[in-house]
Amino acid sequence: MTKLLPSPFSSLLAVVFISLISIVHCCSPKDQTALNAFKSSLNEPNLGIFNTWSENTDCCKGWYGISCDPDSGRVTDISLRGESEDAIFQKAGRSGYMTGSIDPAVCDLTALSSFVLADWKGISGEIPTCITSLASLRVIDLAGNKITGEIPAEIGKLTKLAVLNLAENRMSGEIPPSLTSLAELKHLELTENGISGEIPADFGSLKMLSRALLGRNELAGSIPGSISGMKRLADLDLSRNHIEGPIPEWMGSMKVLSVLNLDSNSLTGPIPGSILSNSGFGVLNLSRNALEGSIPDVFGSTTYFMSLDLSHNNLSGRIPDSLSSAKFVGHLDISHNRLCGPIPMGSPFDHLEASSFSDNECLCGGPLMKTC
Ligand SMILES: *[C@@H]1O[C@H](CO)[C@@H](O)[C@H](O)[C@H]1NC(C)=O
Ligand SMILES: *[C@@H]1O[C@H](CO)[C@@H](O)[C@H](O)[C@H]1NC(C)=O
Repeated sequence: MTKLLPSPFSSLLAVVFISLISIVHCCSPKDQTALNAFKSSLNEPNLGIFNTWSENTDCCKGWYGISCDPDSGRVTDISLRGESEDAIFQKAGRSGYMTGSIDPAVCDLTALSSFVLADWKGISGEIPTCITSLASLRVIDLAGNKITGEIPAEIGKLTKLAVLNLAENRMSGEIPPSLTSLAELKHLELTENGISGEIPADFGSLKMLSRALLGRNELAGSIPGSISGMKRLADLDLSRNHIEGPIPEWMGSMKVLSVLNLDSNSLTGPIPGSILSNSGFGVLNLSRNALEGSIPDVFGSTTYFMSLDLSHNNLSGRIPDSLSSAKFVGHLDISHNRLCGPIPMGSPFDHLEASSFSDNECLCGGPLMKTC
């Protein structure tokens, strides 16, 4: 038989054990109050997710979308997505819908690391500016709502921020200058808002950034030269803005850039050869600009485009023969230009339809009805 430990020691253990349990089970009262205020500014009529947020239960236990730090009982994550595979959605057989606004009480959750309130379609109002005081924030994802107002001017104070996704809202104003001081930012998504002004000249200070999705806004000015120093940038989308000036030659030397969407802007000048010869580019859309000159004859056996769209520009001359030596071109669109001459033969062209070449000056051969 094991002898029991001397009683002073075992009672000490018991005290430690009991206090551990009580810590683990206790949501910080201040956080619980903040969450109640947060909830009361929102209305989610279809799924009843807030039914789990009941006054007399612990916010760290069973509140839908809430996670806490088990040691401190502080709320670390709000994770509420309106598009989800979650059982609660499956059962209701529909995606989420929520109205209301983001209550500034959220700023009392000072241990918050991840704030996701995305794809609810109906949440409106502005982002409370006090959110920039939540120093632990790594993720802000408020995409897919009807949020208005500007990106908080002091967003740069969130030094740990890695993800900022405000896509598909109704935000306006300019990109605040402080945003470029977010040294940890990896993923910036502002797509489909009404953001205007120029891309900050020091945008390239975002050294960790790998995705910069700024399409479908009202951005103007030219492509900042500092972007050339972004060693991790893999996906750049500036499409459907009012960007003007030339496509810089250095864009073709960016080491990991593989998706580049500059379509539907006011870019002028020639297409730099470096962009077409960089075999790392898998998706390139330069459609609907005012690019001119001929298509550089720089393709080769390492050329591998999932999609290459140069349509609706003012390109002239012939389709370069080197394009027929490409390893793969999944989708090619060079329609609506002023190209002339025979469509080269070769495997990259075999699967293409006439629409890839339509509305040019005098192309012939290939899938076109016109023989050369
Ligand atoms: C390229 O951009 C244009 C204009 O924004 C768009 O209509 C087209 O679908 C895009 N091309 C591809 C292949 O996605
Ligand atoms: C296309 O280029 C030609 C000259 O190369 C110029 O005359 C014409 O105005 C240009 N068209 C557009 C729409 O820019």
